[in-house]
Amino acid sequence: MEKFYTLFFVAGIGCFVIAITLSMVFPWMTLHSYHDMEFQTLEQLAAEPSKEFRQLQEQFPEAFDGAFGDVSPESYAEALQLGRDLYVDQACWHCHSQYVRVVSNETQRFGPPSVAQEYQNALNQPHLWGTRRVGPDLTREGGKRTNDWHIAHLVNPKDILPNSVMPSYAYYFEQDGTPRKKGFALVTYLQWLGTTYKEAAQ
Ligand code: HEC
Repeated sequence: MEKFYTLFFVAGIGCFVIAITLSMVFPWMTLHSYHDMEFQTLEQLAAEPSKEFRQLQEQFPEAFDGAFGDVSPESYAEALQLGRDLYVDQACWHCHSQYVRVVSNETQRFGPPSVAQEYQNALNQPHLWGTRRVGPDLTREGGKRTNDWHIAHLVNPKDILPNSVMPSYAYYFEQDGTPRKKGFALVTYLQWLGTTYKEAAQ
């Protein structure tokens, strides 16, 4: 037995070294490379209001005026932040992921795989990768559907897909479908998702 002591001792130290390398050195190396990544503030993200935000203003001038005033970088920033807050608040992330993986042909359905730089901005921290997918991934949702589609879908998902298990968010809209402030914000945020990808992938 005695002759194995040295062997166990050396093997023990060896495993310790491997563990340190795998769970400390490698993650540190990955995280360290993030230091070079540029972080975008909300002001930077909102510098150019999206065309969908402008369209909401044109389509519902009075309601938009009451909710956000005019289209400006400031009002766009406010809508984006409120939209994200609602997404967290309503636990949309419980059913939707915001992360396209490189496996399972996900790219065919959701677009290019997610890259780290995409999450280096104020609207992605903490990130909302989610834990499971009851509904589809929403990372590339921006521009995929029209504002009208989102409004109709949020008011009653079953009107669009009869079998949908997504709850209705009709309380963010008037009876005739005109968005309330939170309705504007949620649609604006959904239309923003994925728009930072192009720059990030470069
Ligand atoms: C109980 C799970 C659940 C919750 C909570 C949920 N969803 Fe969904 N969502 C789904 C399912 C399932 C679908 C697919 C069927 C459909 O389109 O209704 C879906 C579809 C969608 C789509 C359409 C994606 C596309 O382009 O086809 C959007 C956008 C969306 N959800 C946004 C939201 C937002 C915003 C919230 C929170 C306010 C939310 N969802 C909360 C389950 C959920």
